[in-house]
Amino acid sequence: RMLKRQMRCRLDINRLNAVFLAIYESLIPSEEEKVKQEQFFMLLEKLVNKEWPEAGLYLYGSCANSFGVSKSDIDVCLAIEDAEINKSEVLLKLADILQSDNLQNVQALTRARVPIVKLMDPLTGISCDICINNVLAVVNTKLLRDYAQIDVRLRQLTFIVKHWAKSRGVNATYQGTLSSYAYVLMCIHFLQQRRPAILPCLQEIGHTYSVTVDDIQCAYFDQVEKLRGFGSGNKETIARLVWGFFNYWAYSHDYANAVISVRTGRILSKHEKEWTRRSGNDRHLICIEDPFEISHDLGRVVDKFSIKVLREEFERAADILHNDPNPCATLFEPY
Ligand code: GTP
Ligand code: MG
Repeated sequence: RMLKRQMRCRLDINRLNAVFLAIYESLIPSEEEKVKQEQFFMLLEKLVNKEWPEAGLYLYGSCANSFGVSKSDIDVCLAIEDAEINKSEVLLKLADILQSDNLQNVQALTRARVPIVKLMDPLTGISCDICINNVLAVVNTKLLRDYAQIDVRLRQLTFIVKHWAKSRGVNATYQGTLSSYAYVLMCIHFLQQRRPAILPCLQEIGHTYSVTVDDIQCAYFDQVEKLRGFGSGNKETIARLVWGFFNYWAYSHDYANAVISVRTGRILSKHEKEWTRRSGNDRHLICIEDPFEISHDLGRVVDKFSIKVLREEFERAADILHNDPNPCATLFEPY
């Protein structure tokens, strides 16, 4: 009877695995969508270079880090070397140029925390945010994309986690929950600390890429084609990893003392980061170190109410995966 039970279990996990993989596949943007994004980006480049011939235009965020699901907005950074520029003036000028090229809903949000121009391309329906000189975001986008090349399970796990977070309403920094960027870092960290490890720590091995941005040196090993197969000693399936991820954040993470750090591939202590107390608006109730801006806690947006919401959601997900014979319907149930 025991053997029968084990067989049942294995069947269930295989079925669950197939369901997760199907969800992952369904979220991948189509080739057609990618082509449209590229065409739209080239149009923007043309318009921008007419006004600022020296400037560079870069894609960042989920359209460039390989963690973007179908129909995501695109994030663009306009890099202007001139230190004298006034960001608001540039944004207003940019909005002007885009408006007169028939782009829709062009808005310059010059007073936002990160000032941007928002717009929509009526031809493709693509929405886009353009910011100025946010070069660190371009560099962390490359880091994330490079990690994704090493083992496909990172992209699979992250798609499932992002899909869960959006369905459950815990992917909104303005409501005190976490950004997509934070969730990707949580997934990378999780696969780094798995035994055997599924991902290496790219910032701890010989640096083949190095840039200095806003006085921060960003350096890591980026020849990731040499690391394919790194995680092949670990045979865990995506279903197992999704369960492990939620179980980690529900029941294993030490919220009182621990900081997750993709930069070092380990857990650091709040004590060594001096993140033990609230400072200003940073409460450090869940601590996720930015890989380059290491004084930056991506959990800083989480407050004493939203930490409860988040932890209850992690527990809910872990419990569903543990007990529910058909977990997917409930796991992604709209909140
Ligand atoms: P979706 O739009 O939800 O698909 O995900 P996204 O990857 O585009 O994430 P998000 O819109 O949260 O952020 C866009 C990009 O901005 C990220 O990929 C990062 O490169 C950057 N970013 C976002 N938040 C931070 C932050 O707090 N610190 C830094 N340094 N970069 C950030
Ligand atoms: Mg985005």
